[in-house]
Amino acid sequence: MDGNGRWAASRSLPRTAGHRRGADAVRRCMEAAGELGVEYLTLFGFSSENWGRPENEVSDLMGLLRRYLRSEIAEMHEKGVRLRVIGDRSKLDSDIVSLIEDAEQRTAGNDRLHMTVALSYSGREEIAHAAREIAREAAAGRLNPETVDTQAVAARLLTADIPDPDLLIRTSGEQRLSNFLLWQLAYAELVFIDCLWPDFGHAELKTAVAEFQRRDRRYGLAVGSR
Ligand code: IPE
Ligand code: MG
Repeated sequence: MDGNGRWAASRSLPRTAGHRRGADAVRRCMEAAGELGVEYLTLFGFSSENWGRPENEVSDLMGLLRRYLRSEIAEMHEKGVRLRVIGDRSKLDSDIVSLIEDAEQRTAGNDRLHMTVALSYSGREEIAHAAREIAREAAAGRLNPETVDTQAVAARLLTADIPDPDLLIRTSGEQRLSNFLLWQLAYAELVFIDCLWPDFGHAELKTAVAEFQRRDRRYGLAVGSR
């Protein structure tokens, strides 16, 4: 979700205004995903690197997150959305962690749309964490290093129980991954769109999915062989 700041700047508004409109876009995107039959939607909300932004912007973003968790979960639950949060929770305020835990527990039985939000998330850190876990188990004699394969790594990622994404959409015209789901995006189709995140809605999601449907996914095989 990129481009909140630019959306605000182009209207001579403070960045917070862009983030606030970005939160509205989350709701629209979630609804649109449900309507299009998307089963898994993962949003990059706040990166580990974003902690380096000015203190007031970080606290505005955390305030918005807090408000979102308080006001949207009941409706999400009603609509059959299951919410998961991935990332380093130790850096989040304890009341936000409680709200996340409550929301995850409350929606755990839903399966209409699996929505995952990455908060305080770093793809490299996630992989390093899995490596530490594997090393610990091997050192304790519970795991034979020779059996460590890609499945063993995937099973120790924060996304262990959700499938790898088929499609990555990055908004605002930037064309990079920015440390998002580095392992999981190995075979994702990448779609970059100029739309700023606060302007994202049903039409944009539909266009990106249509672009995805035109792609020929070969997973390393020769053209025409599948
Ligand atoms: C995305 O918008 C929101 C977060 C990263 C939290 P940005 O804040 O990155 O917006 P730009 O890139 O400055 O326009
Ligand atoms: Mg940005």
